[in-house]
Amino acid sequence: MISKIYSGTVYGIEGFLIEVEIDIAKGLPSFSIVGLPDAAVKESKERVMAAIRNSGYDFPAKKITVNLAPADLKKEGAGFDLPIAIGILVACGIAKKEKIENYCIIGELALDGTVRSVKGILSLALKLNKKNKMIILPDENAKEAVIANIKVFPVKHLNDVVKFLNNEQEILPYSEDLEKIYDENFFYEHDFLDVKGQQYTKRAIEVAACGGHNILMVGPPGSGKTMIASRVPTILPRLTFEEAIETTRIYSVAGLLKSGFISIRPFRAPHHTISDVALVGGGQTPKPGEISLAHNGVLFLDELPEFDRNVIEVLRQPLENGTIIVSRATFKCEFPANIMLIAACNPCPCGFYGHPKKECVCTPYQIQKYVSKISGPLLDRIDIHIEVPPVDIADLSSTTMTESSKDIRLRVENVRKIQYKRYKNKKIYTNSQLTSKLIKEFCPMTDEAKNILKLSIEKLGLSARAYDRIIKVSRTIADMDNKDVIDSIHITEAVQYRSMDRWLK
Ligand SMILES: Nc1ncnc2c1ncn2[C@@H]1O[C@H](COP(=O)(O)OP(=O)(O)OP(=O)(O)O)[C@@H](O)[C@H]1O
Ligand SMILES: [Mg+2]
Repeated sequence: MISKIYSGTVYGIEGFLIEVEIDIAKGLPSFSIVGLPDAAVKESKERVMAAIRNSGYDFPAKKITVNLAPADLKKEGAGFDLPIAIGILVACGIAKKEKIENYCIIGELALDGTVRSVKGILSLALKLNKKNKMIILPDENAKEAVIANIKVFPVKHLNDVVKFLNNEQEILPYSEDLEKIYDENFFYEHDFLDVKGQQYTKRAIEVAACGGHNILMVGPPGSGKTMIASRVPTILPRLTFEEAIETTRIYSVAGLLKSGFISIRPFRAPHHTISDVALVGGGQTPKPGEISLAHNGVLFLDELPEFDRNVIEVLRQPLENGTIIVSRATFKCEFPANIMLIAACNPCPCGFYGHPKKECVCTPYQIQKYVSKISGPLLDRIDIHIEVPPVDIADLSSTTMTESSKDIRLRVENVRKIQYKRYKNKKIYTNSQLTSKLIKEFCPMTDEAKNILKLSIEKLGLSARAYDRIIKVSRTIADMDNKDVIDSIHITEAVQYRSMDRWLK
């Protein structure tokens, strides 16, 4: 007696169809699973046996072999419990096999036969969409699978599936109005309305958001760096439907999906003790790291000098390419990591260097050592550095209305449109992605602007690396001003946003 059930697994963020073949033969009772199962799949035996018995069926006292094909792909997680159990029940004639071919079945089983949720359903559902299959899955996962636009049949118990196959009971398909949930989930907890004063910082943040530039904020404790950074996603252009699916997929694989569909830009702020694998992803069976969880949104590195040098080092490549490639002996997988980086730090170890009211207690050596930790490879990839002053008490108590995130976002979206149009055939989307060659093509300057740039580089002693960065940022500022040619005011403002270059000189 043999049966075949379709199921699936996820590797990296890709879904794969798996065929679960079950053979029940005469012989001494045994139960084995072959086809590169991991520990959780091997443990499946115990759960399947208990779940079948506790659901009121006899577990066959025969020689049972389960094969997961293709055999060269590592199978992970507990999602094969349900297809294995159904396969056994079909093979021994308890469940009918007629309908089985059209469905992919996935789910973890509790010992009493209850079906539990699994990770990475969206990636699998997207794969099934291409294969024209329907899915029978845990009730809790229905919200997520439906995003892939396939027919979804949620179940709560092993019995539900058996009765459905035997035509004794229907399973109600789950459906959602996707446009509606995309709109409903577009809601940010924070808003720029709460940030009082800080006009200079807000302007720099808006420039960064408009051009997709990475930014570093240096300021004393309590000046609002964390508060401002956490609000940056709210002013970035609204995620497109496709981008929302990409981001949701990563959260689904990481098992962090709560709302079903993520239609806002993510904000991730990992602690400075994070390891390099946790930041960029990896592990035995590759999992996305913080940088991929921030895909299409903001990665915030607070207290930048406290991060381990190795950790900072591994960020360089993904910041450049927007993806992470994790290679394993038999497989390679790619995680998207298209992020805006925001970093923050104090100006010195005590935090009060240059503070108008409080005195700094650090020695020049301590300050030098602290600041030097920031320099190097990562700083090379940050276009804008600003000093954030302490908040003015008068601003804090002021009742004048500040601008909302929505107002700022509308402006940012307009400036992004100018860039999309300009770089249409260049495979880049924002000014921050300009290469030296493209800068020559797309950044025309007035003579006055050229002069000011030359003077700034010479007089302020700005480094050569600052040169391209200043031009890119001034391109964004000119776009915000709706000007094709970069003028001196645009360059002057961009030069202001290079405070670390002056410090590290
Ligand atoms: N501009 C502001 N408008 C309103 N509230 C502010 C502002 N700046 C700071 N605050 C208040 O101060 C609190 C502390 O700010 P925040 O934690 O962002 O400072 P920080 O610069 O990140 O400090 P640290 O260097 O200690 O991390 C905020 O939670 C907020 O309540
Ligand atoms: Mg902070």
